[in-house]
Amino acid sequence: MAEMKEAPAGASALVKTTVWLQNRFPTIFDEYRKHMSEYYAPKNFNVWYFFGSLAMLVLVIQIVTGIFLTMHYKPDAATAFASVEYIMREVPGGWIIRYMHSTGASAFFIVVYLHMYRGLIYGSYRKPRELVWIFGCAIFLCLMAEAFFGYLLPWGQMSYWGAQVIVNLFAAVPFIGPDLALLIRGDYVVGDATLNRFFAFHVIAVPLVLLGLVVAHLLALHDVGSNNPDGVDIKAKKDAQGRPLDGIAFHPYYTVHDMLGVGVFLMIFCAIMFFAPELGGYFLEYNNFIPADPLKTPAHIAPVWYFTPFYTILRATTDPMVNALCVLIGLAALWNLVAGKASGMLRIGLLVAAAVLIALMKTFDAKFWGVVLMGGAVIILFFLPWLDQSPVKSIRYRPGWHKLVLAVFVVAFLILGYQGVQPAAPSGSALELLSQACTLIYFGFFLLMPWWSTWGTFKPVPERVTFAPH
Ligand code: HEM
Repeated sequence: MAEMKEAPAGASALVKTTVWLQNRFPTIFDEYRKHMSEYYAPKNFNVWYFFGSLAMLVLVIQIVTGIFLTMHYKPDAATAFASVEYIMREVPGGWIIRYMHSTGASAFFIVVYLHMYRGLIYGSYRKPRELVWIFGCAIFLCLMAEAFFGYLLPWGQMSYWGAQVIVNLFAAVPFIGPDLALLIRGDYVVGDATLNRFFAFHVIAVPLVLLGLVVAHLLALHDVGSNNPDGVDIKAKKDAQGRPLDGIAFHPYYTVHDMLGVGVFLMIFCAIMFFAPELGGYFLEYNNFIPADPLKTPAHIAPVWYFTPFYTILRATTDPMVNALCVLIGLAALWNLVAGKASGMLRIGLLVAAAVLIALMKTFDAKFWGVVLMGGAVIILFFLPWLDQSPVKSIRYRPGWHKLVLAVFVVAFLILGYQGVQPAAPSGSALELLSQACTLIYFGFFLLMPWWSTWGTFKPVPERVTFAPH
């Protein structure tokens, strides 16, 4: 056991309490130093670096407001909708708690999408931060599950029919699909059993996993250290005390810096919460103010905006799209056979694998492949650290046209998102072709990255970070 410290004679109550704690629980002081006062973060962080701490803030908002909502909400198909109305009209302060939670859900996705985009532009997923990224992708998956389960709880028309559509997608899985959908629903239709299990997942199961993953995300980040807008390794140049020359202590410098982000964020958050909590039907869909009615299917069922890029990928996967994909896979395998650099056996193996895949694609329904592509659009993010082969991390030192490629990807993603809130495009229409083209751009961006990320003339990366004090 470490030697007991003594508070100096006449020390204040605060010093005495600190010494008392240091003698009994030194770990928190060690951890505080490791993660706050002696965690050296690069001094050139810019606005993109606000979103990690903002994501933590929204996580706290969601957990705290969620606890209060649970005190009054009833997870029962007969009373759920009315209990939400009760929270809005009768519970003192209930309306603000609920609007904080519903606005927080959308804010979470806005913040996390921007946080991921930052990773994309500065190559934050590259060695040695692959695990930080992978934990991040797992967080993203959990967040999607959390939002999906939560959306059923108000038991409105969109809750009900949205869950119906998504759970039915699982029924498209060959062989086990119908049983799988039954297992998720707990009944032959979305009903009370579904509501109960979704409630359990929403309030305890998924948040526990989410919290664990956030802790793992941050511990992994602090083990390797933060990246920065230049993609320069600040640990390469240290002073006599072993502190990075380009690093500054997280506390107080970045805790104070992050307060600026928190201030701006809360202003926007409060403006939406007080003046436009439905945000034109994007944050709270109008149809969800109507109680769930299993006998009345709404004319237009659309998921909430943050799921729509993936939903459009699902809808874009029609029979002609599957045919086009088969042709693309066939051409890629033939090209690899003729011009690929791998060994002859491997190239023949890949050709056979492509033939098997094409046969499978023609065997199963396009709807199933839509589900595969929708899931694949998220899963592919996990592989980003290995898909990107660029010799530099940050977009700042990449060829100018790499920015164009990124811009095309972002525009395609936004178009996919926009199309998902619109009614389905008529079969064969120009709009449907557009969603199919955007789906191909989305996957092409990632799958062709091992090639395009190495092409072009790269700018020299400076030895130290670029930073102008302000
Ligand atoms: C609940 C959600 C999340 C929380 C609370 C969270 C929190 C944080 C925090 C506090 C940081 C350090 C500050 C910063 O660099 O901004 C960070 C860094 C990072 N996060 Fe997240 N994060 C979340 C989700 C994600 C997701 C979904 C991804 C990617 C798929 C991701 C990828 C990263 C990466 C790569 C870094 C290192 C960035 C760098 O050093 O340049 N995070 N995260």
